[in-house]
Amino acid sequence: MKALILSGGKGTRLRPLTYTGAKQLVPVANKPILWYGIEAIVEAGITDIGIIISPETGPEIQEKTGDGARFGARITYIPQDQPLGLAHAVKVAQPFLQDSPFVMYLGDNLIQDPLGDFLSYFQAQALDALILLRAVSNPSAFGVAEVDPQGRVLALVEKPQNPPSNLALVGLYFFSPEIHQAIAQIQPSPRGELEITDAIQALIDAEKAVEAQQLAGWWLDTGKKDDLLEANRIILDTLLAPDKQGRVDDQSQIIGRVKIHPSAEIINSSIRGPVIIGADCRIVNAFIGPYTSVADGVAIEEADLEHSVILQGAQIIGVQQRLVDSVIGQRAKLTVTPRQPAALRFLVGDDSQIEFSPRRF
Ligand code: G1P
Repeated sequence: MKALILSGGKGTRLRPLTYTGAKQLVPVANKPILWYGIEAIVEAGITDIGIIISPETGPEIQEKTGDGARFGARITYIPQDQPLGLAHAVKVAQPFLQDSPFVMYLGDNLIQDPLGDFLSYFQAQALDALILLRAVSNPSAFGVAEVDPQGRVLALVEKPQNPPSNLALVGLYFFSPEIHQAIAQIQPSPRGELEITDAIQALIDAEKAVEAQQLAGWWLDTGKKDDLLEANRIILDTLLAPDKQGRVDDQSQIIGRVKIHPSAEIINSSIRGPVIIGADCRIVNAFIGPYTSVADGVAIEEADLEHSVILQGAQIIGVQQRLVDSVIGQRAKLTVTPRQPAALRFLVGDDSQIEFSPRRF
């Protein structure tokens, strides 16, 4: 059994963060999204992992993630020159996959259920495809399955305007080598991509063994800002192991589940978990509230924030209003200089979003 993780694409829905980096490397609770997938795969006992990368972000993914040794796995990087669809990625990976069955995992998905039970079922039933489904409120944004009352998959359709059900296809699939023949038969979709959904439909049409199971736990597709904040909230809520290290002075209060890196410094501040604070951070005269992840090298001074993700090297200084529901990019600076006349000065990157909520009196 092998694994194929798809980590290409342009990440347009997470701009501007993805102008300078891969969406799969955006951290959730200070760990790249992609690494959660790798760990889940290794936990299910699969250690031969291929990762599909794009020319734009591949080198960064390769450099940060390495050869797999840190995960107890062997990683092979497979370049996909153009984002021509998930089924195209499988085609490109055929020399790596050969005639092995494999699990395919979309690198921007986070899935709570362990993969092991699904894998055992797939193997025990000798299926050609096992797909995972989850009821969602916006099925048009996903691949959607039509199932009969017994739960058998009748048809699949990619991002339909009139969805036949509310059951979305989760970014986790188990395939036998039959999928390669199915991919050879399909044509690009109206959006110009070879859709894995169409390839699975071809398996169904050929009466191959295709089954679906519903996920029991949460599933997050971290494509957009709010999804990212939600993923951060859930991971901090469910997986954060408290570890209060760092240099914390007597004037500071650390409450609840908080993980602080030993090299972080906390001065005259309150931190109310769940919160994670990375290496070399400086938190001075600040309040950091629940569901906040602060990456390495961040400075937060005279500021108040919660339910936010702060990326590496950012500085938040002197901001008097509470910052909420925010994602602050790498090295971004949010500073207020008290002695300057009241004015706002910005150098804001393309596709950034700044929202001011007026005070309610
Ligand atoms: C892809 C698949 C879609 C699936 C989704 C899950 O869509 O094409 O069927 O439901 O992943 O994350 P994408 O996110 O590439 O638009």
